[in-house]
Amino acid sequence: MIRSRIAGIGKYLPEQVVTNNDLLQYMDTSDEWIQERTGIKERRFAHRTNETTTTMGVEAARIAIERAGITPQDIDFIIFATLSPDYYFPGCGVLLQRAMKMKEIGALDVRNQCSGFVYALSVADQFIRTGTYKNILVVGSEKHSFGLDFTTRGRNVSVIFGDGAGAVVLQPTTDEQAGILSTHLHSDGESAEILAMYNPGTHANFWKEERYADFNEAPIGQMFMSHEMIDNAQLFPYMDGPAVFKKAVVKFPEVIMEALTKNGLTAQDLNLLIPHQANLRIAQFVQQKLGLRDDQVYNNIQYYGNTTAASVPIALCEAWEKGLVKEHELVCLAAFGSGFTWASALLRW
Ligand code: UT7
Repeated sequence: MIRSRIAGIGKYLPEQVVTNNDLLQYMDTSDEWIQERTGIKERRFAHRTNETTTTMGVEAARIAIERAGITPQDIDFIIFATLSPDYYFPGCGVLLQRAMKMKEIGALDVRNQCSGFVYALSVADQFIRTGTYKNILVVGSEKHSFGLDFTTRGRNVSVIFGDGAGAVVLQPTTDEQAGILSTHLHSDGESAEILAMYNPGTHANFWKEERYADFNEAPIGQMFMSHEMIDNAQLFPYMDGPAVFKKAVVKFPEVIMEALTKNGLTAQDLNLLIPHQANLRIAQFVQQKLGLRDDQVYNNIQYYGNTTAASVPIALCEAWEKGLVKEHELVCLAAFGSGFTWASALLRW
């Protein structure tokens, strides 16, 4: 039986460290509030002009590819997960393909926010299992610092997020003791607007509410963005934090248990859980709910903040680099976020 396994993993964190106290120059917040509510001590911010979501993805990908013992020209498919792409379109996948001088292979962007990497991994897994591709590059990368509201108005969102990238190379294996055992994907669009960036977009709510009763009166072809949207800070992400928190602490344990049960395993069998680094309090709640020991859960949000689609591969890479993930050990990746979407992947390293 063919399964897919992670043959190489890499991460990239920008150099600039931004502490909670550094944020005080922009907004009314405190180190105490941020640490108490989220566990975050500091995060990394990309270079304002020289680094993009793609360039960080490339750095992580180079390491993953090298560790897999292959070259960029051996990659036969790219899946790039991000909510902060370099361009509205085209996606980051093609920009990475160009930057790494890869062959004219397929490049797919996944826009699933916090669960983006686990979704991307699941898609890659299907292509490997069916024998379609042999070396798939899966990347999660985010440059949040570029588009957040760094004023007191936006503090409930902007203190949480950080920049960075992670990447893996997936290859086929016939080793019975290794590889992705199963992946589990879910969504509930009822709460789509609870954690979202509405503009620019085609929903036209701004124009409906503020301007025109009759849609024929609305300006054709100029509704994507407006000066008022900028002036009214409507180009920033919106989050109802407590509502997201409440749902996350239910769905995280649920999707982890789904993966374990599907494979006839229990939480006690887990060597390491890598939860999406949304909030340390959420991860601690999940740990407690599943009855896991401290050494069974890996967290690094304290140092990088929430890096959305990049958080799972960054944490997995760091845990592996520290020797916390050994051959054939059981690892669960799990994520929950905007959409809502949530997902898990159970694998043997
Ligand atoms: O990965 C994406 C998915 N996102 C998540 O998983 C986020 C889930 N939610 C959370 O992590 C938490 O809800 C937050 C960390 C975002 C917020 O923590 P909270 O304990 O839910 O706080 P809150 O939003 O209920 O706000 C409590 C108070 C408010 O003041 P009042 O109304 O009680 O006077 C806020 O205005 O804290 C205030 N506040 C802040 N104070 C200092 C909000 N943000 C800040 C801040 N610094 N940065």
